[in-house]
Amino acid sequence: KSAIEKKSERTLGLIKPDAFLKVGKIVDAIYKDGFRVAQLRTLQLTRRDAMEFYAEHEGKPFYPALTEFMSSGPIVAMELVADGAIQKWRKLIGPTNTFTAQKEAPSSLRALFGTDGTRNACHGSDSTASADRELGFFFGSPSRFPSTARFNNCTL
Ligand code: PPS
Repeated sequence: KSAIEKKSERTLGLIKPDAFLKVGKIVDAIYKDGFRVAQLRTLQLTRRDAMEFYAEHEGKPFYPALTEFMSSGPIVAMELVADGAIQKWRKLIGPTNTFTAQKEAPSSLRALFGTDGTRNACHGSDSTASADRELGFFFGSPSRFPSTARFNNCTL
């Protein structure tokens, strides 16, 4: 393996329903920031899918709004690869709340493409463990790759 391959990390990036039609601008920003997009798919989650994906937040006050929103329209799931991809992607998307992002990181993706506290344009894994789980959720583990059957595919 080359030195670059050894250092590279992968993360799950999502473009949420409110920013689905901004995929071109967002992918452009992703490339400009130096990521490789290893996998990309468009799909729509069912409510049940969204509840499973966000199971760690079950019971929190925002869980119903979050899962309702995330199953309300098509999304883009991406495997993003770069050195330090997890933190790098979280920096590019900016603070969780769109309004905070607009104040504190006006050039971040959530500031540019988010809508409010619920509809915040993008998601990023927060650790290597969650990146592994979340990439498996959308793209399948290598042993069952490619998992094309699970979701309703959407077209752009
Ligand atoms: S926590 O409790 O600190 O882990 O929560 P946080 O990291 O801030 O957010 C976790 C995910 O929940 C989303 N969220 C919301 N969705 C809808 N409405 C409200 N009010 C809300 N607050 C937080 C937030 O966008 C995070 O989603 P992802 O997809 O991980 O960015």
